[in-house]
Amino acid sequence: MAFEFLANKLAAARQANQFRQIIPTVGGNQCRLIVGDRALINFSANDYLGLATDPQVIAAANKASAKYGVGSGGSPLVTGHSSLHQDLQTMLCEVTGLESAMLFSSGFAANSGILATMLGKNDLLLQDKLNHASLMEAGINSPATMKRFKHNEMTHLARHLADGKDYQNRLLVSEGVFSMDGDCGDLTSLRQIADKHNAWLMVDDAHGFGVNGQGQGSCAALGVKPDILMATFGKAIGTSGAFVAGSKEVTEYLTNYCRHYIYSTALPISVVAATIKSIELSGEAWRSEKLNERIAYFKQQASKLGLNLMPSNSAIQPLIIGQSDKAIAVSEQLKSAGYWVGAIRPPTVAKGSARLRITLSANHRLTDIDNLLIALARAVEQDGVIT
Ligand SMILES: Cc1ncc(COP(=O)(O)O)c(C=O)c1O
Repeated sequence: MAFEFLANKLAAARQANQFRQIIPTVGGNQCRLIVGDRALINFSANDYLGLATDPQVIAAANKASAKYGVGSGGSPLVTGHSSLHQDLQTMLCEVTGLESAMLFSSGFAANSGILATMLGKNDLLLQDKLNHASLMEAGINSPATMKRFKHNEMTHLARHLADGKDYQNRLLVSEGVFSMDGDCGDLTSLRQIADKHNAWLMVDDAHGFGVNGQGQGSCAALGVKPDILMATFGKAIGTSGAFVAGSKEVTEYLTNYCRHYIYSTALPISVVAATIKSIELSGEAWRSEKLNERIAYFKQQASKLGLNLMPSNSAIQPLIIGQSDKAIAVSEQLKSAGYWVGAIRPPTVAKGSARLRITLSANHRLTDIDNLLIALARAVEQDGVIT
C-alpha cells in the first residue's frame, strides 16, 4: 500500500505520547486566552512584552492596511518591497549597529536560506547542540559538513575547529537566548574563538531581540558584533517575519543568491508598519524592566515552593518533568486550574527531558504568577514528579 508509513508513524507518535494537535484559540493571543468556552491565563506565548495586542501597534497595522492594502503583492525583487520595508531595514541597521539588513517572511525561511546559500561542500558548520530545529534542519540540508558542539562548551567547539582547519570556510552558529532552555549563548567567547580560528559567527537572536540590550538584542547587550545576525519579529516584537543583518556584502549576496528570499512574497505592509512601531516601543526601557521584574518574582516564588527551575534569567523558564506522559499530565492539570502551559516533548527536546516551557510577559499580573505557581506545585506533587 502506498504511503503506509503515515499511519504507522502517527500510531507510533500516539504510543510515545508525542502526538501533536492544533488547538484553536479565540479572541487573540494575549495574557488571557480563550480556548473553547474557557478563559486560561497564557504562560506559553513568546509575546514577552505584550506588543502583539498593543493599541499603538494595532493602529499602525490598520493605518498601513487602509492606505496600502493587505498583501505586499509580490516578492521583494519584483514589486513587494515598499518604502516602508526600506524604512524598517534602515531602522534595523540603527538598532543593531550593523551595516545592512534585509527582511524574510519567517525565521525558519531566514535560517534555511542563510545556511543553504552561504555554505558549500568544502565548508564546516558548527552548531550548538541546543540550536533551534530550523537551524538543525537547515544544516542537515546544506552541502557543508555539520558538527554539533556541546551546549555552550567552548573547549569542545575549539577542538572541532582545530580538527576542521582544512575546511575552506567555518561558520559557528549559536542562539542568543536558547528557545527551550532560556539560558544565553556565550557570545563573547564565541566571537573570540571565531576570530582566533578565522571563522564566522552567526547568531540567531529570536528570543533576545526586543528584550535584551534595551531591545537591541543579545549581541548589542554584550558588545559582540556577529558576522550574521538573524532575529525574528514573531517573539518579543509581537508581529511576524524576520531579518538578517550583517555587512552590505552579506545582504547583497543573499539578495542575489538566496532562493528563500528571491522567490517568496515580501512581508505584508501592515506587518511591516506594525513591526516598525513595535521595535520603537520595545526600545522603551520600562517595558523590559517590567518583564525583568516578573522574571525575578517568578524565580523567587518558585524557589520558595521548592520548584527546581533551570538556570535561566530570560522570559523562558522551563521546568523539567522528564517523561512525556508526566509532562502532559501536569500541563492538563494546569489547564483544569485555568493556566495554559505547553508540555514540550521529544523530539523538540532530548529524550527524558520533557518539560513545561513557562514563558512570562510584561503584562502578567503578579497574582497570575502566584496562582500559577501554587497550581503548579500542587500538580507536580499529585503526579509524583521530582523537579
Ligand atoms: C531560535 C529560533 N529561531 C528561529 C525560529 C523560527 O522563527 P519563525 O517563527 O519566524 O519562523 C524560532 C521560532 O520558534 C526560534 O525559536
